[in-house]
Amino acid sequence: MRRDAETLPSPNIWQWPEIYEIENRAQDVDGAIWRLLAEVAGWRGRDVVDIGCGSGFHLPRFAADARRVTGVEPHEPLVARAKARVAELPSVTVLAGSAQRLPLADASVDVAHARTAYFFGPGCEPGLAEVERVLRPGGVLAIVDLDVRHHPYGDWMRADLPEYEPVEVDRFFARQGFDCRPVVTRWRFADRQSLESVLRIEFSSRVADRAVRTVTGLEFPVGYRVLTRRKPAGLII
Ligand SMILES: C[S@@+](CC[C@H](N)C(=O)[O-])C[C@H]1O[C@@H](n2cnc3c(N)ncnc32)[C@H](O)[C@@H]1O
Repeated sequence: MRRDAETLPSPNIWQWPEIYEIENRAQDVDGAIWRLLAEVAGWRGRDVVDIGCGSGFHLPRFAADARRVTGVEPHEPLVARAKARVAELPSVTVLAGSAQRLPLADASVDVAHARTAYFFGPGCEPGLAEVERVLRPGGVLAIVDLDVRHHPYGDWMRADLPEYEPVEVDRFFARQGFDCRPVVTRWRFADRQSLESVLRIEFSSRVADRAVRTVTGLEFPVGYRVLTRRKPAGLII
């Protein structure tokens, strides 16, 4: 399979797409991220790109109000899944591509969204420049990222990623001109088996064991950061 050098492997959704689907359904059951996105990156009547769209879980939600929605994803089996998901939605297109090489024309998008997009972190300047190219003046990029400082999920992430430095990540995005808004969500599962299977695709077995022991019920809080940067609408004279 062709893989661009810049594509970051995502073992969770690449290896276990069915379990990742359960995870996506369990995430943010109160819609806190969507409410914040509507405030800071409203998509009603707009042209949207979802970068690193995976199996396209978020595409129908955007399509309900947007003018056009494009999902871009480098991993070909996920491109196929995303296409199948939106087959009945005429305003949605799914294309193979990456953040660093978006298959979109200059100034053709109003809202660029990327969720749990590990490829947008320190060193992602080429991807940010590419998003800037496809955004129309006044358009916005919204990156929805997990917050490793929020308990308990962030503790589990940091146990597996001890080298991850959130202060450095914050500095990088601040230097790039992003606003950062924290949002706390609730992940809720239908049963313990679903909850456990999701924790086991997200963490090493040692950390997943600990997480499974820590959560006694069917839900837990998960913190995110929503990073936004708006392209200037015109020249300031
Ligand atoms: C954790 S998954 C999230 C998928 C989707 N955003 C969601 O919330 O369901 C990260 C996705 O980013 C994709 N990805 C990896 N490197 C990428 C890159 N350079 N540009 C765009 N997408 C990339 C992966 O193939 C994977 O589908």
